[in-house]
Amino acid sequence: MIIAVDGPAASGKGTLARRLAAHFKIDHLDTGSLYRCVALGVLRAGRDPNNESDAITAAHDVRSLDLSDPDLRDEKVGNAASTVAQFPAVRQILLDYQRQVAAAGAVLDGRDIGTVVCPDADHKFYVTASLEIRAERRIAELLDRGVAVSPDEIREEMAVRDRLDRERATSPLILASDAHLLDTTNLDIDSAFSYALTLIEQN
Ligand code: CDP
Repeated sequence: MIIAVDGPAASGKGTLARRLAAHFKIDHLDTGSLYRCVALGVLRAGRDPNNESDAITAAHDVRSLDLSDPDLRDEKVGNAASTVAQFPAVRQILLDYQRQVAAAGAVLDGRDIGTVVCPDADHKFYVTASLEIRAERRIAELLDRGVAVSPDEIREEMAVRDRLDRERATSPLILASDAHLLDTTNLDIDSAFSYALTLIEQN
């Protein structure tokens, strides 16, 4: 079984994807962490995420990087991830690995899973929430990790990333016509999970 979970930053898609994978005892791939790895590789090499050939070089090295590296969660790495994700060649390099994981049966979360990576997924969800709520969640997450934040800056950076992800030419974040829309603005994770499970069991 392949489950695609797409949506903007801090919408709750990662948590939902993890819960679904645990429930069905299949793998979970947070595809955002692949783009974050590329971004971290570029930044650590002292290169520029806006430079396509630097991003491509880092994408080729992505398998040697650690997907659980705590530095991947830095906001500056997230912002740089949106930048390197604009380049079609970077997306192409990461595509094979994502499809390999999916082929074994998995839940993948990201921006283009239901539209590009796994258009034939058995179940597709598009998880979203208002910008205000998503920014609040990200701020709480950062504070939890002891990171000092400027709430206005986080909100503004999130709006910029939303725009980049939705307006880019290749694989933009869009609601697939066959995806279930899950708005978590007023929904906690348990309710979102139960709702998703009900939809899966109905199909
Ligand atoms: O954790 P958060 O939701 O903030 O972001 P993420 O899922 O870690 O993804 C970081 C960035 O990678 C996103 O802003 C996208 O630009 C990019 N990305 C993508 O283009 N396609 C994917 N399938 C996953 C992430």
